[in-house]
Amino acid sequence: MCGIIGMIDAKPVALPLLAALRRLEYRGYDSAGMATLNEGRIERRRSEGKIVRLEKVLQKEPLFGTTGIGHTRWATHGAPVEKNAHPHANGTLAVVHNGIIENFASLRKELEEEGRRFESETDSEVIVHLLTREVERNDGDLALACREVLPRLKGMFALVAMFAGKEGLLFGARCGSPLVLGFSDGDKGESVGYFGSDALSLSGLAERIVYLHDGEWALLRAREEDSQLFDANNAPRGLSLQPMPVMAVALGKGNHRHFMEKEIVEQPSVWSDVLSARLDPATRRPRLPALPFLFRDISTLHMTACGTAYYAALVAKYWLEAFAGIAVEVDVASELRYRAPVLRSGDQVAMCVSQSGETMDSLEALRLYRKAGLKTIALVNVEQSSIARLCDVVLPTHAGPEIGVASTKAFTTQLLTLACFTLTAANERGWLSNEQTSSFVEALTCLPGLAARCLEKFGASESQFAEAAQLLARAHDVLYLGRGVSYPIALEGALKIKEISYIHAEGYAAGEMKHGPIALVDDSVPILAVAPYDRWFAKTLSNLHEVASRGAKVILVSSARGVAAADEGGVALAARVVLPDCEEVLAKRTDADKSSEENKTKEGEENARGWSVLEMMHPILYSLPVQILAHDVALLKGTDVDQPRNLAKSVTVE
Ligand code: AGP
Repeated sequence: MCGIIGMIDAKPVALPLLAALRRLEYRGYDSAGMATLNEGRIERRRSEGKIVRLEKVLQKEPLFGTTGIGHTRWATHGAPVEKNAHPHANGTLAVVHNGIIENFASLRKELEEEGRRFESETDSEVIVHLLTREVERNDGDLALACREVLPRLKGMFALVAMFAGKEGLLFGARCGSPLVLGFSDGDKGESVGYFGSDALSLSGLAERIVYLHDGEWALLRAREEDSQLFDANNAPRGLSLQPMPVMAVALGKGNHRHFMEKEIVEQPSVWSDVLSARLDPATRRPRLPALPFLFRDISTLHMTACGTAYYAALVAKYWLEAFAGIAVEVDVASELRYRAPVLRSGDQVAMCVSQSGETMDSLEALRLYRKAGLKTIALVNVEQSSIARLCDVVLPTHAGPEIGVASTKAFTTQLLTLACFTLTAANERGWLSNEQTSSFVEALTCLPGLAARCLEKFGASESQFAEAAQLLARAHDVLYLGRGVSYPIALEGALKIKEISYIHAEGYAAGEMKHGPIALVDDSVPILAVAPYDRWFAKTLSNLHEVASRGAKVILVSSARGVAAADEGGVALAARVVLPDCEEVLAKRTDADKSSEENKTKEGEENARGWSVLEMMHPILYSLPVQILAHDVALLKGTDVDQPRNLAKSVTVE
């Protein structure tokens, strides 16, 4: 969604602002702009479309000045055209804004009745006129003007303003949407001050940063000792700066064509990082942060999330119910408030799953849980995020920054973290013994190696994904099927392909086809089955017979045993993707370790409900082929892999 950058330097700021806007591109946007103070006058350049178009405008008409603000806009109110691009400005001040001013219509009416003229269709422009009015009313007292304006604005937003004639000063406020303030030491010892809508936008610039809390506002100057930060009650608060974390975006894409490719490929090593962080070598069991409840007191876990994170929560529902006997309610965050969930503190807790930790729908759902008095857990990738701050416990997923809009490593690290959460719950509730829990853990440690095998030929011309990708790329509609724990992976696979290749795709529970969707089947609709050779395989195979006999081109994603069973069963496969067989890998390990007393427990050992660790490993491993196929299909279609149209990485509006 919208990205904000602000900068005060002793040197011209236009080029560093442009570079920072590029770092904000990953958030998703459809126009961009910047403004600087040139000898006290506000000058601005804007353009619809990508940053490269703004760059061309700047080449023709450069901007000068050492104080400036920049913005990438994801349209909410008003089309993505130049007149709606930020900064919005008049002769007095310029504003960049992220979020929505919900009462903008009444404010606009009030301001227009006073004779103030609007140039855009945006909600953001009311901030310009409100601030201007308060600056006029308060004889140019900017701090007072800013204080007066904030309570008039309803909604969730962050904003930064720059004032004509006031070089070296920026005003910024956080009301729901994140805003970061930072500083660095310039070449000659002078200081540089920054605002950014996330830490990533300031990577390579700021050396020290502070996240504004909700309701806080700041008057930024180049030097930290001259800058002022105020809390929601307008009381001054000290700047407790922290060192800027090292950001992957600063390191770039390496040899990869896109961030998505890089993020897919790094999964084996990222999974190892997650397991090292989560597993206790002494007990050989998972290690979680201290929780404000006991698993044995919990009857229900409520989970909420959006998009890919929602599918991770769905997988966890299967796991927690089967392995730990905890009832799990999973809600799409944007819907939770529109039903009447039965929430009670005591035996119920809640978890919000989010890569960014800033998704507004998830934040609002979380507030509902908290209002009902439930203890809350944030399963997030960004530990400083709003969702993390709002929860009682933070479970970081350790994926590292994810830049591609299509979530990949964030999803699989959510799954791994949820697997560790489930094992802890199962162990503490007595559903898995210590020995069983350790043997599950040891099995999970095979996953990075299995992932590496799966990724071996990713990108190579002889890749086994090529045939399936060609088939999918030619289609207008695609169906993804899965059963049991593979069903959420089918949903995720369908989301992934529609996000980045714009092919219409839907995920279904394999058994649901005959209840309606099978009417869609003909030879133009490829059907991809996510079907590890597991306890549900035979039933899924029957469903594949049903669609194949109606002309569907079936793509089977399974192990060699699954593919052989399909061939023997006479299902004509149009393409096949063969994954390492988890069961065989575990059996070999157990054989090799037979002599060891410690490893007496079979890793495939089943729990009381007959589920084994395979049901934990499969959804994690089988996420890779659906990511790879979406990526490869997008390449074939020539779409923008990292920044697909209309999408934003962090969705900060409801
Ligand atoms: C995933 O590929 C999507 N871009 C999207 O569905 C995403 O997962 C969703 O918006 C939730 O984001 P979050 O995890 O940052 O809350």
